[in-house]
Amino acid sequence: MSEHVLRMQGISKRFPGVHALDQVQLNVRKGTVHALMGENGAGKSTLMKCLIGIYAPDSGTIEFKGQEIRIGNTHHALSMGISMIHQELSPIPHMTVAENIFLGREPLTWYGLVDMRELNRRTRELLGRLGIAVAPEKKMVELSIANTQLVEIAKAISYDSSLIVMDEPTSAITEAEVANLHNIIRSLRSRGVSIIYITHKMDEVFNICDEVTVLRDGRYVGTNPIQALSHDLLIQKMVGRELTAMFHKEETPIAEPILYVRNYSGKRFRGVTFQVRRGEIFGVAGLMGAGRTELLETIFGVHPRTSGEIYLHGKRVEIRRPSDSIQHGLALLTEDRKLSGLYLN
Ligand SMILES: Nc1ncnc2c1ncn2[C@@H]1O[C@H](COP(=O)(O)OP(=O)(O)O)[C@@H](O)[C@H]1O
Ligand SMILES: [Mg+2]
Repeated sequence: MSEHVLRMQGISKRFPGVHALDQVQLNVRKGTVHALMGENGAGKSTLMKCLIGIYAPDSGTIEFKGQEIRIGNTHHALSMGISMIHQELSPIPHMTVAENIFLGREPLTWYGLVDMRELNRRTRELLGRLGIAVAPEKKMVELSIANTQLVEIAKAISYDSSLIVMDEPTSAITEAEVANLHNIIRSLRSRGVSIIYITHKMDEVFNICDEVTVLRDGRYVGTNPIQALSHDLLIQKMVGRELTAMFHKEETPIAEPILYVRNYSGKRFRGVTFQVRRGEIFGVAGLMGAGRTELLETIFGVHPRTSGEIYLHGKRVEIRRPSDSIQHGLALLTEDRKLSGLYLN
């Protein structure tokens, strides 16, 4: 096995009331994809923010390419060859895709202004090379969450870093886009780039990763080559107990229907009919792009329907806008809570 490009040892970080990291270690080999796993709140993002200089760890050492380093901010990290795809997407909404990607390192014309043609050309070349179909001139606000995530990925890769941290990079993209990202990762790896890959998706870990480090409640559990792990073993390490205890089934009585959606059609779905009963958790499944979000947003009154009726407690209701829904006692927790989930008044 190759030598370590990164060694983080004894890293601790406290926030008021939370011991987010307690003596954690992470050792990543050159030219490998290293999964960092653990349940929500285990400390994965905090550890990565300590690496790239967003947080200063309370204790511990970081060695990069054999030298102890102390990174003060993300610029410093980038200049050392470490970039990161953040879990929380935070594009600058009114800038274009190209401006976002090359922010702070725009090509200039000979009289010192941003060379828009060159900027767009470089962006088109980068996105084309990565197989990402987004126009450089588009404003970030106009992009879907999936495309926003793809631009974030392109940006992190564009720095030609030797270590790229990917914090849940596939939470919003389609299966085809995940497959494309994995091909990009394989090609980076073959050129000696190291990747730290954070995800909850087991199949992605087994598909792309070479080694796995598991954290639990801010503590280091262990590091193993992927060949030494099975799905069950990995989950067991993450949750810290046997699998059998995880999903125990509770009997719930079948109650009366509360919401009845009949023959509902909208922009991306047709003829949807279902009932949701009192006390029920009702799942809506489908691939990315299948129309799940559209369906729920249309029911809630965000988009107009083209056919269908809604009954609440057996009575027909007319929902034309979100305020009608709210009046009838419905609430919608949106996919992107930062962008569309705020109702300010
Ligand atoms: N900026 C912060 N201030 C206070 N607590 C935080 C902050 N960031 C993370 N935490 C807490 O630290 C713990 C680890 O969080 P995080 O690193 O985001 O976990 P993960 O990425 O594994 O889901 C959690 O208990 C979280 O609530
Ligand atoms: Mg996280």
